[in-house]
Amino acid sequence: MKVTVVGAGAVGASCAEYIAMKNFASEVVVLDIKEGYAEGKAMDLMQTASLMGFDTKITGSTNDYGKTANSDVAVITSGIPRKPGMTREELIGINAGIVKTVATNLLEHSPNATIIVVSNPMDTMTYLVHKATGLPKNKIIGMGGALDSARFKYRLAEALGAPISDVDGMVIGGHSDVGMVPLIGHATRNSVKVSEFLSEEKMEWVVEETKVGGATLTKLLGTSAWYAPGAAVSSMVQAIACDQKKMFPCSTMLDGEYGLSDICIGVPVILGKDGIEQIVEIELSDAEKAKMQESAEGVKKTNGLLQV
Ligand code: 2OP
Repeated sequence: MKVTVVGAGAVGASCAEYIAMKNFASEVVVLDIKEGYAEGKAMDLMQTASLMGFDTKITGSTNDYGKTANSDVAVITSGIPRKPGMTREELIGINAGIVKTVATNLLEHSPNATIIVVSNPMDTMTYLVHKATGLPKNKIIGMGGALDSARFKYRLAEALGAPISDVDGMVIGGHSDVGMVPLIGHATRNSVKVSEFLSEEKMEWVVEETKVGGATLTKLLGTSAWYAPGAAVSSMVQAIACDQKKMFPCSTMLDGEYGLSDICIGVPVILGKDGIEQIVEIELSDAEKAKMQESAEGVKKTNGLLQV
């Protein structure tokens, strides 16, 4: 199992680190345009191998896509991260060109790769990769919901005073501060609905904190987060690599599901060896359906800024 991670910045390096530590991939290639940067990160990571106990071979490349040839999965993290006060959508001008070039270069050497898009604005970048490459729609996956759901569970556990292992919840919709839809009505504490434990106000607090989870960290860090994004991607890569049939909310090209078409947006999917193996249509309340529609309008508005 060969995985390529394009972008050796904080997110890309964390992604490579977590993939290696899970020890399911034979090789991870990290590629960056900055001279020597990916090679340095790869060497530093490889020097943890004896300490962390993994056999995955991590190598770096300065913009030589030949070294990524025959990758099974390729992760696109390249582009600029947002600064405090910025929205993800404001990154489109710079990141769209980068993502289009990267996707094209990757597929030239790995025509059968499954592509995971992380670069923001992620739903629109995922849509761009579809339009730019024509890859089958099961082979292009946007990572946002897995991260947002991890933040949702973090806030739920905090509100409940419960261990995170007791908590389950999912976030669908656009990966945006205003558009994501934490499904608080479906969230559980060890199979019991969280509404049995939390007031309406507290549940609203959990939803709102989840929605701005990325912006909260950008304000604290001065740049976008990297540990949880990297971990979220590594779990998706593992589900594909190990054919786990695991359900994640992922940005997926829809063709009528959830009443939406010609849009990439976060919905529950089953990930396995063929990438998106099934789009799962769950029962949503009227309020959740309305929020999903509103979220889709926001994503389509950002898509409209693309010159594909
Ligand atoms: C985040 O939410 C980078 O969009 C990513 O942290």
